Amino acid sequence: MNDIEKIISEAVSETLKESGISETPNKVMSINEAYVAEAGQFELNTELLSSKTKKAHKELLDGYVKKLNNISANLDSVDKTSANLNNSVFRSLKIDETYNHNAAFLHGLYFENISDVNSTISMDTISYMRIARDFGSFDAWQEDFVACCLSARNGWAVTAYNMHLQRYVNTVIDLHSQNVMTGIFPVIVMDCWEHSYYRDYLKDRKTYVFAMMKELNWSVIEKRVKKADMIAKVLRS
Ligand SMILES: [Fe+2]
Repeated sequence: MNDIEKIISEAVSETLKESGISETPNKVMSINEAYVAEAGQFELNTELLSSKTKKAHKELLDGYVKKLNNISANLDSVDKTSANLNNSVFRSLKIDETYNHNAAFLHGLYFENISDVNSTISMDTISYMRIARDFGSFDAWQEDFVACCLSARNGWAVTAYNMHLQRYVNTVIDLHSQNVMTGIFPVIVMDCWEHSYYRDYLKDRKTYVFAMMKELNWSVIEKRVKKADMIAKVLRS
């Protein structure tokens, strides 16, 4: 493993751990061996979501993690010689693997970066400076991020460091795995599936998004941005 692979691997590994998904060492990145992930436990102190929504949402995460492990185990023993692009068990498992993988990790990242009832961001944080640098201003990022939140179907809005462009971008993901930009390292993640807000906000997604953004956990985001800085430094070297 060369330097860049090592640093990216360490940064990704740490973020996965902080996202609440533990991993079996050296297995979670493997595509050839079964891996086992475990849903993290999240304390959601926010009063801007009902306890029923929070409970049901955490149960969804548990379900995605169980499916991911199940798919991983099946991939370990599937017949690869009959793989084809029209209809094969291997192909179906690979598609489902990405769907459930993203569902599990995006939920972990989301739960971790919301629900800070004392949320605050100051202009001297790296998060603020990087966002202002790449979007023109913090307000411009906010406007663009909200637009992404409103544009996702049942899906996600993500602020991420893009390793190809070497800058931060906002991006929209439909479902858990459609329109996923490659080379991104997520730092701010918002669940825009109806299950995340409909019970509490009905069809008013905008109010839900504003409520969650009011309680973004900027100390969690700052840690992610610092890891992205490490990746950026290696990419520039
Ligand atoms: Fe969700």
